[in-house]
Amino acid sequence: MSHYDSMQAAQARIIGDFRSDTVTRPCAGMLAAMAEAPLGDDVFGDDPTVTKLEAEVARLLGKQAALFLPTGTQSNLVAALSHCGRGEEIIVGRSYHLFADEAKGASVLGGIGFEPLDTEANGALDPEAIAAAVQPDDPHQAISRLLALENTVAGSAIALAQLQDCALVARKHGLSVHLDGARLFNAAASLGCRVGDLASVADSVSLCLSKGLGTPLGSVLAGDSALIARGRRHRKLLGGGMRQVGLVAAAGLYALAHNVERLIEDQRKAERLAQSLARLPRSGDGAWLCHQATNMVFVTPPKGQGEALLRHLANAGLLAGGAPRLRLVMHKDVDEAAVAALGQSILTFAGVEGD
Ligand SMILES: Cc1ncc(COP(=O)(O)O)c(C=O)c1O
Repeated sequence: MSHYDSMQAAQARIIGDFRSDTVTRPCAGMLAAMAEAPLGDDVFGDDPTVTKLEAEVARLLGKQAALFLPTGTQSNLVAALSHCGRGEEIIVGRSYHLFADEAKGASVLGGIGFEPLDTEANGALDPEAIAAAVQPDDPHQAISRLLALENTVAGSAIALAQLQDCALVARKHGLSVHLDGARLFNAAASLGCRVGDLASVADSVSLCLSKGLGTPLGSVLAGDSALIARGRRHRKLLGGGMRQVGLVAAAGLYALAHNVERLIEDQRKAERLAQSLARLPRSGDGAWLCHQATNMVFVTPPKGQGEALLRHLANAGLLAGGAPRLRLVMHKDVDEAAVAALGQSILTFAGVEGD
């Protein structure tokens, strides 16, 4: 069997890939939209499909302008570089992607410091902790410049009022506000509001198109025209200026038209999975922990069983992320049957009898 054939065979055995919502493949309609997109050279500013996507995201988020970027990491980095100068500092959640999972790019490339804060149980920041983290006007200290929020945080949708309380403290101290909204549409679907409402608290917002929205790549940073003009320079500096990239922007436009309304279905799948796992033992030595938030379910088996559970699921064609706490993410490419199989497979591993 060739390497290609064995890869195909392995793919064929996968019933559901729950590692992340980034694993989705473009559907036929999205591919057709990509093939038909009018193109130009976006570095020269004349790719009409990119321009259309940027205008659409700016409109949805209630901002003056927007910028198309290849990844969420580059979008957050461009935002940090566009808000802050060397020797300035970002106040951010300790678990937030911008601080925890982006290789401290803002520090490495921009001389920007971080002031990480512990988050509340739901992933939000505490306004009092933000106020306490703002540096005094003192030459011994870095200059606090930016508050970086996130929504959703590990699946948890943060309500507008909580975001507003944080942003208010930031503004009182003269800080700008950035919102990493990689999954902002999941938050809005869960909270029953518009993404524009959640975006209103921030000066800049980063959205990912390649997570629940299902494009192969792409993120968009939105903000006022001056910030986005600075962002355009930083994107080029980072090697993110792309040419006939309307090919990918077309996937983004397709996703905004077809894949937003359905996000609540992903949350329903996660809720059903969590319900089926309610029969796991919850007390004593063999206790399991289970937590659901928007399209994600987190499952912690009894101590030392995480790797074995991952292998058990993989043998059944079910891919999950992480151990000891498994992350199970719902998206458009996992169907109800796969979700039911996942629930059953976890119960079988735990030795819980079927119905
Ligand atoms: C909250 C959040 N922000 C930013 C990113 C970065 O996105 P990318 O993987 O496109 O760089 C991720 C990726 O998972 C994320 O979860």
